[in-house]
Amino acid sequence: MDTDRDATLHAVSTAVLAVTRHLSVHEVLQVIVRAAAQLLDARYAALGVPDDEGSFAEFVVEGVSDEQWERIGPLPRQHGLLALMLRDDRAQRLPDVRRAPAFEGWPAAHPVLKDFLGVPIKDGTETLGIIFLANRRTPGGFTAADEELLTLFAAHAAIAMTNARLYERNRELTVIEERARLARELHDAVAQKLFSLRLTAAAALSAADPRVELERVQTLAKEALAELREVIFELRPAELEGDGLAASLRKHVRVLDRAWGSGRGRRPRVRFEGEDVALPPEAEEVAYRVAQEALYNALRHGDPSEVTVRLTAGVLEVRDDGTGFDTGAGARDGLGLASMRERAESIGGCLTVDSSPAGTVVRLEVPA
Ligand SMILES: Nc1ncnc2c1ncn2[C@@H]1O[C@H](COP(=O)(O)OP(=O)(O)OP(=O)(O)O)[C@@H](O)[C@H]1O
Ligand SMILES: [Mg+2]
Repeated sequence: MDTDRDATLHAVSTAVLAVTRHLSVHEVLQVIVRAAAQLLDARYAALGVPDDEGSFAEFVVEGVSDEQWERIGPLPRQHGLLALMLRDDRAQRLPDVRRAPAFEGWPAAHPVLKDFLGVPIKDGTETLGIIFLANRRTPGGFTAADEELLTLFAAHAAIAMTNARLYERNRELTVIEERARLARELHDAVAQKLFSLRLTAAAALSAADPRVELERVQTLAKEALAELREVIFELRPAELEGDGLAASLRKHVRVLDRAWGSGRGRRPRVRFEGEDVALPPEAEEVAYRVAQEALYNALRHGDPSEVTVRLTAGVLEVRDDGTGFDTGAGARDGLGLASMRERAESIGGCLTVDSSPAGTVVRLEVPA
């Protein structure tokens, strides 16, 4: 009993610690599944978070290799035993899952499951998900004590999942608030000035002697420019000051690697390679902004399985293995590509974009 208790304590604390390390919801689920499989000595474990459309928003497994996972095919729908458990909110402990009345079979490449233990993960009355284990390594299947242990574990998993969700939402909220603040600031500072500028220009047009108005136009344009500069200065990525370019990029990449696509089926891998290089502050900022835009483009438009940001002396490269796009003559840049080019020019650098159906490489050369 004592070793059981130690193992429970350990498994539960692993899951809770994962949260205090601010991992994403997806990672917390993985930690929970792995811990449960270890705790109950199960060959297979899975955790499914239902969505509102009869499928699963997240489905995390342990004991199945990536290749096997690919071969099994699409995520399970909420049918059969999984649906029953989501509806019934009760634990299911079965010596052979294939004999359960609700069993409806599985895809060809699915591993063969026999003894089965599943419990709902609940937060109050809401069912956050179900966790289930199969094929206990030691013979005899799952016991009543195992069921109790998994139920206890599921209660802690619920807290971990709720926390991770709150943390992710909070972070999203911070970003939204920051954007709203900047929009407000731009409006207050710059939009007002441009509005007066337009009125004054209109007055100049109908004046017999427009010199006074034109002088005022000049002053207003100067002021608008100064205020715009100030807002832009505030937009400077704060972390660049403290951490330097390589560390800031690495941090940014790590966030995207964790967060991008969580909640959807496929999650691209995002990596950073390289070391700090000595660059003047303006060039650092340009490189950072270009990397950001190129990264978001790759993730938003390319559906890649991997994106790599590489920083070497004088060169920043963002490479993805996504669908690519037409960069030929006649193709029109959006704002993102245009601003990357402008930024590169502003420091006397050069931006090239190579794209084919095998992927895209955005390359910024920074002059020494
Ligand atoms: N890495 C990429 N993979 C696939 N397509 C891309 C990639 N980068 C850019 N594109 C294509 O080029 C278009 C223009 O990109 P650009 O960044 O200029 O604009 P945007 O991303 O659509 O909008 P914005 O950046 O202003 O939010 C995109 O809409 C997309 O179709
Ligand atoms: Mg873009």
